[in-house]
Amino acid sequence: MGMLDSKVAVVTGAGRGLGREEIIDLAAHGARVVINEVNRPDAKAAAHETAELITNAGGEAIVVLGDCADSNDAEALMATTLDTYGDLNIMVNNAGFLRDKTIFGMSDDEFDSVVRVHLRGHFVNMRNATQHWRNRAKSGEQTYGRLLSTSSEAVLYGSAGQPNYAAAKAGIIAMTLGAAQLMGRYGVTCNTIMPRAETDMTNSGPTAAMFAAPESGFHHFDPANVAPLVSYLASPDAAHISGEVFVVWGNQVNVLQRPTVLPAHVNPDGEQKWTPQGLHASLSSHFDANYRSVYDGFALPIDQG
Ligand SMILES: NC(=O)c1ccc[n+]([C@@H]2O[C@H](COP(=O)([O-])OP(=O)(O)OC[C@H]3O[C@@H](n4cnc5c(N)ncnc54)[C@H](O)[C@@H]3O)[C@@H](O)[C@H]2O)c1
Repeated sequence: MGMLDSKVAVVTGAGRGLGREEIIDLAAHGARVVINEVNRPDAKAAAHETAELITNAGGEAIVVLGDCADSNDAEALMATTLDTYGDLNIMVNNAGFLRDKTIFGMSDDEFDSVVRVHLRGHFVNMRNATQHWRNRAKSGEQTYGRLLSTSSEAVLYGSAGQPNYAAAKAGIIAMTLGAAQLMGRYGVTCNTIMPRAETDMTNSGPTAAMFAAPESGFHHFDPANVAPLVSYLASPDAAHISGEVFVVWGNQVNVLQRPTVLPAHVNPDGEQKWTPQGLHASLSSHFDANYRSVYDGFALPIDQG
């Protein structure tokens, strides 16, 4: 018995990289899977290769090509999933690409295309999956729903060379949290991962050396290391975990702490609006000489912590 036997899982961008490892792991735990990839010859070939790896290992897999951010393609993805397997239980939004530039050098298209593929790509598939689960629950049918979103530590570190990507990945967390609030009543969980892995996205340019496999020993950035968390969050054992954000790579998982709202500064002059001078006097107790600005990120990389 696999922990995901009888479950149906969709992973977007599952031909390569993290998506491929995630869908292989979901299938290895018994899920019947749907591999979504963009309709391009190389991606199509990669998607069919992933399907073959799964079916050769005794699993069930189909390929549905289409743009994860296109409403019609996303509807077709949902319809083919339901026609083939009769249900959808696990929706993993993973697909995306980068167009890195600084804020002052970025074109409209570089901004729009990255926000579209990540944020809208999550939105359209989240909408379809949550509609499906809500409709089932409302008509009294048994509902098993697990929504997984893919964000990035770019949100935490500012990521000055990726204003489009960091913004989209931050939006994904907010959207997933809202979905978690809405869908809790139907027993559906919605969580977000921030993975790190050596993939086509990271194996060239400035990140290549950091992500490269070592000559020997454990490859911390093997994308397969991320997959078990996805399968776990998709499983019945994780029914009580929702709205959370996880950093995941290698042999470690970090649970993100909630952002903290510190005690309020209240105008000492009573119930009236602040003056800039009053704010300066009050906030100086926080932003004193020892204060470390967040300009270098909300979280520090582990080696600088
Ligand atoms: N690799 C990392 O270290 C890392 C870090 C943080 C977040 N992520 C996120 O993980 C996810 C997977 O990235 P990866 O590293 O595996 O990259 P990847 O480039 O190896 O895989 C992305 C896949 O998405 C597919 N894709 C692109 N546009 C698509 C579209 N419109 N519709 C359907 N499929 C599409 C690509 O063809 C590709 O197969 C992305 O959301 C990425 O932002 C990765």
